[in-house]
Amino acid sequence: MRRYAGEELVDRILLTQEQIDRRIAELGRAIAEEHGGRDLRLVTVLRGGVFFLADLCRAVDAPLSIDFLAISSYAGSSEGTVRITKDLDDSIEGASVIVVEDIIDTGLTLNYVLSVLRQREPAVLEVCALLDKDARRIVDLPIAYKGFSVPDRFLVGYGLDIEGRLRNLPYIATVHDDRVA
Ligand code: IMP
Ligand code: MG
Repeated sequence: MRRYAGEELVDRILLTQEQIDRRIAELGRAIAEEHGGRDLRLVTVLRGGVFFLADLCRAVDAPLSIDFLAISSYAGSSEGTVRITKDLDDSIEGASVIVVEDIIDTGLTLNYVLSVLRQREPAVLEVCALLDKDARRIVDLPIAYKGFSVPDRFLVGYGLDIEGRLRNLPYIATVHDDRVA
């Protein structure tokens, strides 16, 4: 089996590249069926969501555009208090917006992003999340398109990082317990 840099941190592969690809193809077909013909925008939060967005948008056989925002938590404040450090480039008024997320954990980040985007009056505002760590959810969010439910373990790969690293693993894996803070 091919070895990847940084793999010594990996405990177990949870989702292989093939499993991820197959699920993304299904999600892409569902999105094209429901939103094809509309002014479809796939929007993601930097940086982790970029990997999923790049693959997902190629699985959606319909006209669409992509856009990005970045957020950061206020230092010293409670979880979920975030600010936008890079905003979307395009207006989303009247558009069908799907927020594409790598993983939803507590849901606080996405809840904030959705509340900001909702004020801009898109015609549709939905969520497509590759991974749902549902055991940890604090705020209930409707997820229109969901890749996989995952256990409450720290995950790396396919965009998910540990201290900025391992985003470039092609699969999603757990890390050894002693490596998680
Ligand atoms: P939430 O606000 O708690 O839902 O946090 C969601 C964000 O936390 C995700 O977009 C990821 O950036 C990060 N995150 C949550 N769980 C993991 C994980 O297991 N590995 C890496 N990053 C994670
Ligand atoms: Mg993220």
